[in-house]
Amino acid sequence: MCERKDSFHIRPLETSDLPALCDLMEEAKVSIGSLNSKPAYYAICRDALLNDKVVIVVAEKGKHLAGYVVAIVDCKSYWINFPFRHPISFLSVIFHRLAGKVFTKRDIKKHIEITEDAQPKEISKTPSGRIWRQSSSEIAKIANIHVFNDYRRMGIGRELYKSLFRLLAKRGIKRVDAITALYNNRSVGLHLSTGWKMERTKNNFFATTDITEPNQ
Ligand SMILES: CC(C)(COP(=O)(O)OP(=O)(O)OC[C@H]1O[C@@H](n2cnc3c(N)ncnc32)[C@H](O)[C@@H]1OP(=O)(O)O)[C@@H](O)C(=O)NCCC(=O)NCCS
Repeated sequence: MCERKDSFHIRPLETSDLPALCDLMEEAKVSIGSLNSKPAYYAICRDALLNDKVVIVVAEKGKHLAGYVVAIVDCKSYWINFPFRHPISFLSVIFHRLAGKVFTKRDIKKHIEITEDAQPKEISKTPSGRIWRQSSSEIAKIANIHVFNDYRRMGIGRELYKSLFRLLAKRGIKRVDAITALYNNRSVGLHLSTGWKMERTKNNFFATTDITEPNQ
């Protein structure tokens, strides 16, 4: 699968992407499943190449990586098994955490006082009955979607999701969930404009969508 939209190119992750992608992830200090160290990025990217529980789609513009999306299928079992599959990466993450160099960025909710009025009107008031903790082989979670600064607002985020959904549908995935911080207007905008149902939870927005057709 590969697509061209304007001058960018959307395709699944390839082995040759790993060094550049992990450098960019480190530079952007991204957090994937609360992990934000280079060994963890490598471990997750390698899983995308070898293990069908991780799907990574990248966007390329010219010769540069412009963005990516990481989805994890059956998240609970993936993370339970992570330390066994990647003991060295896992120990390295623990070491970094203990050393205080890497830490999970918890919700920066103290910065944002979102009132009910300030929420986008598309935020659903009707509970979907779904929660983030639900995990199965038919549910994928967005572990991270990121478009690097210079490439934003060109439609790349939207196209990354389209391609990802096509791949997930082929693997029999029926539902995709994501979590968005309350203050993250870009992410809220992206999820609303790409048709996700969004609900306010105590600390964030929970987004969920169905994948019904392979061509979605
Ligand atoms: C969120 C993010 C991935 C969006 O990527 P993008 O390539 O810029 O998004 P697109 O250009 O495809 O935009 C699609 C739609 O999302 C919405 N959107 C994107 N950026 C927005 C912004 N800054 N403010 C409000 N809405 C925004 C718009 O509805 C947009 O459609 P439009 O341009 O036709 O109005 C990107 O801003 C990013 O990487 N942010 C930092 C990382 C992050 O927050 N990730 C999400 C964690 S869940």
